[in-house]
Amino acid sequence: MSQIETLDIADWAPQPGDAESRRLAAALEAGKVLFLPRLRFELQQREKRFLDPRWSDRKAKNISYDPVSKAIKGAQGNASDLEDLRHLVERFHQRAVGLIRHLLPHYTTQLRLARASFRPMPVAGRASSWRKDDSRLHVDAFPSRPNRGERILRVFANVNPRGEPRVWRVGEPFADMAQRFLPKIPRQLPGAAAVLSTLRITKSRRSEYDHTMLQLHDRMKADADYQKNAPQQTMPFPPGSVWICFSDQTSHAAMGGQYLFEQTLHLPVAGLYDPQSAPLRVLEKLMGRALA
Ligand code: SIN
Ligand code: FE
Repeated sequence: MSQIETLDIADWAPQPGDAESRRLAAALEAGKVLFLPRLRFELQQREKRFLDPRWSDRKAKNISYDPVSKAIKGAQGNASDLEDLRHLVERFHQRAVGLIRHLLPHYTTQLRLARASFRPMPVAGRASSWRKDDSRLHVDAFPSRPNRGERILRVFANVNPRGEPRVWRVGEPFADMAQRFLPKIPRQLPGAAAVLSTLRITKSRRSEYDHTMLQLHDRMKADADYQKNAPQQTMPFPPGSVWICFSDQTSHAAMGGQYLFEQTLHLPVAGLYDPQSAPLRVLEKLMGRALA
């Protein structure tokens, strides 16, 4: 069964209606990728100069826009260029957030907006270690950012000017992956969460949920046999398309491409149409105890 659900929408402010919104949410909450092949994020003529790796400061992986401070980070250039670049990423941020609000109005009151990013570097050869290698199948979990089960919803837009797709592999459903790896995962050491938080390695306390998600992330990436033989499909997302998924749930790997925009939104488990579909609830059911 395909993990990709294709949607014929070419408008950043669609009006899907209640039944269609429910259908889309059910697909996303089942871990599928919503693929919108006709939704293009347009760059203006004078913005096309930003399709170049030289705008990256090379220290950060991505150029990111913070919706609270409205500032960008990770870019280099003169003040006026940086302001134009900030504007571009801000426009993507507004478009992506508007799209989610229109497609999934049920989520709107509970969404917490996080950063948008512009990724001008080629995917190939960018990883510094296996743990950071996003060309290996994984679910998103971040060592310094515990979230206690809060969802990670992401909107992506390929803006490659040379016709190059963003090639992903999309893996098996979350519960299948979890059942495979959970038996090998040790419990978090008593006291470890407090130490990590006191040393400010984590920005808040790492819950057992966060510990388990990080372990799943690492064990998936470290397992060469799993990478090769796990159920998966290769999906080339063409330039001029958009796709959306819960990246804490959808097993994914970025295999190639260059020039991508991404927006992250967070949603509490209670904000889902079906809270039982959340990785937190799936793991709690499999492990037989509360994790957050
Ligand atoms: C990822 O989230 O693992 C990478 C996605 C991408 O850069 O295409
Ligand atoms: Fe990822």
